[in-house]
Amino acid sequence: MAYLYLLCMCYFIWTPSANASLSTIGNVYYNMSYNSTDTIITRLTVKYQITCAAQCANLFANCSTAVFDSLTTPQCSLYSGKVTPENLTVSMNTIVYDFQQSKLTATPILHGWNTTGITAAGASDGSGGTADNLFSQPYGIALGSFDSLYIADFSNNRIQKWLINASNGTTMAGLFNGTAGASSIALNLPASVVLDSNDNMYFTDRDNHRVVYWANGASSGTTIAGILGVPGSTNNTFYGPCGIARDSSTGTLYIADSFNHRIMQYLLNASSGTVVAGGNGAGPGTTQLAYPYGLTFDSSTNSLLIANAQTNNIVRWVLGASSWTLVIGSPTGLSGNTSTLLNQPIGITLDPMGNIYVADSGNHRIQFFFAGQFNGITIAGVTGSPGISQSQLFSPYWVIVDNQLNLYVSDTFNNRVQFFSHYLI
Ligand SMILES: *[C@@H]1O[C@H](CO)[C@@H](O)[C@H](O)[C@H]1NC(C)=O
Ligand SMILES: *[C@@H]1O[C@H](CO)[C@@H](O)[C@H](O)[C@H]1NC(C)=O
Ligand SMILES: *[C@@H]1O[C@H](CO)[C@@H](O)[C@H](O)[C@H]1NC(C)=O
Ligand SMILES: *[C@@H]1O[C@H](CO)[C@@H](O)[C@H](O)[C@H]1NC(C)=O
Ligand SMILES: *[C@@H]1O[C@H](CO)[C@@H](O)[C@H](O)[C@H]1NC(C)=O
Ligand SMILES: *[C@@H]1O[C@H](CO)[C@@H](O)[C@H](O)[C@H]1NC(C)=O
Ligand SMILES: *[C@@H]1O[C@H](CO)[C@@H](O)[C@H](O)[C@H]1NC(C)=O
Ligand SMILES: *[C@@H]1O[C@H](CO)[C@@H](O)[C@H](O)[C@H]1NC(C)=O
Ligand SMILES: *[C@@H]1O[C@H](CO)[C@@H](O)[C@H](O)[C@H]1NC(C)=O
Ligand SMILES: *[C@@H]1O[C@H](CO)[C@@H](O)[C@H](O)[C@H]1NC(C)=O
Ligand SMILES: *[C@@H]1O[C@H](CO)[C@@H](O)[C@H](O)[C@H]1NC(C)=O
Repeated sequence: MAYLYLLCMCYFIWTPSANASLSTIGNVYYNMSYNSTDTIITRLTVKYQITCAAQCANLFANCSTAVFDSLTTPQCSLYSGKVTPENLTVSMNTIVYDFQQSKLTATPILHGWNTTGITAAGASDGSGGTADNLFSQPYGIALGSFDSLYIADFSNNRIQKWLINASNGTTMAGLFNGTAGASSIALNLPASVVLDSNDNMYFTDRDNHRVVYWANGASSGTTIAGILGVPGSTNNTFYGPCGIARDSSTGTLYIADSFNHRIMQYLLNASSGTVVAGGNGAGPGTTQLAYPYGLTFDSSTNSLLIANAQTNNIVRWVLGASSWTLVIGSPTGLSGNTSTLLNQPIGITLDPMGNIYVADSGNHRIQFFFAGQFNGITIAGVTGSPGISQSQLFSPYWVIVDNQLNLYVSDTFNNRVQFFSHYLI
């Protein structure tokens, strides 16, 4: 339940707009006392009452009360506790708005991302190579401790760690000189990586058809799923695994067994997996997947969100279910460049509020979808226009967000990782 109290030192008339569910704002309270500090999440400088409301509803999963007071700076205070009307004190002429619902799903866009990026890792001019300041087709990325990024440097057959904004990276797995191999020290096209809380790595080694565990700082890794160099479609083999997701509460891994068009679940330390999605051939049917590359585990619904690169959609597959439901894109697999369609989506990220970010690689853009919405907005890149400028992307494969909702994007064909800062209005 979210409760919103907007305080302002003026009469504030809320006019519901067609796309704003804030029209559910109901009761108006006067002259109430408010003095809670114990549940404060943050205070924000924002221009508008509605922005304050939107931050509470859309940007902080634990927010249940927003207070906007135009006479204080910052004006917007967000609280995680329930603050009842009795707790609010405001002066004369103050109007308090109150609504109760779990999520605002159609809030106007009162926050955004700078559409001019900054190269956070790699060469801004798109140069590729094996030197430690370069990449060759960066693919999956993950945030590590202390402002670090872990990047699957796909065509360099290595996992690089970059301190954000540093000028060089360090090889954490694979051979630093980019040579491919099939051993405990050499990789063959690693596609994506997830980390545990100690920055130990779990990653897919696509053309070695395996998943590797590589402890933080170790000089070699261990095959924990699949058989090194052996493609297959049994429960203990993979064919070209790409995406990987980890349930941090149990250690369970979910692996996109991409060329088998299925998702495998590996319980902690298991030597064999189970098919939890797909496995019925490539296709647009609701029991099928088609080149699933990226995926993410949604603990709030015990489901997987899966990006089908070939059928151009994002689907939700509840664990234990035998089919998917459509989340974004075409139900029949159609590709397109409109706000409701995708073209070869690869990476997908969920923020704590359930909003979805998609690396829409074939459209050279990152799309943002408010939880529950089919209509996306482009927050990075220019639709249909691949390029090297700081506002363009060239086949972006991956997107992640940090705890401030800043974006990091693998700008794959430009051999760089781009940063796009998040801001409030
Ligand atoms: C609010 O709490 C602070 C700190 O506990 C206290 O100094 C202040 O008097 C309180 N204000 C009201 C209006 O109760
Ligand atoms: C609320 O969530 C934010 C992250 O979104 C976290 O930084 C903060 O500590 C949480 N606050 C409370 C009071 O739970
Ligand atoms: C709000 O007021 C109620 C009733 O007076 C009190 O029990 C509660 O502790 C207060 N909550 C906060 C967050 O101050
Ligand atoms: C708020 O309190 C002031 C002063 O106590 C009073 O004059 C005013 O009428 C009150 N406003 C409402 C709406 O009750
Ligand atoms: C966006 O980022 C660019 C590049 O860092 C910067 O020059 C510009 O001031 C930023 N714009 C806004 C509105 O923050
Ligand atoms: C970064 O890498 C480049 C290319 O390998 C090298 O010339 C440069 O010395 C490195 N810089 C640092 C600080 O390590
Ligand atoms: C990286 O640089 C950008 C632009 O200067 C800055 O906004 C951002 O905070 C930096 N990030 C880190 C982790 O230093
Ligand atoms: C890369 O490094 C490995 C391990 O040191 C070495 O065996 C291999 O010959 C090197 N490859 C090249 C092309 O230098
Ligand atoms: C999983 O394997 C690791 C390493 O062998 C071991 O330390 C850990 O205890 C195992 N966990 C379980 C639940 O078996
Ligand atoms: C593989 O796993 C599926 C369920 O995911 C199960 O139905 C099937 O029997 C397993 N096959 C083998 C050979 O273990
Ligand atoms: C979007 O797709 C349509 C149909 O293929 C095409 O005509 C149009 O040029 C595309 N727009 C952009 C911006 O690429």
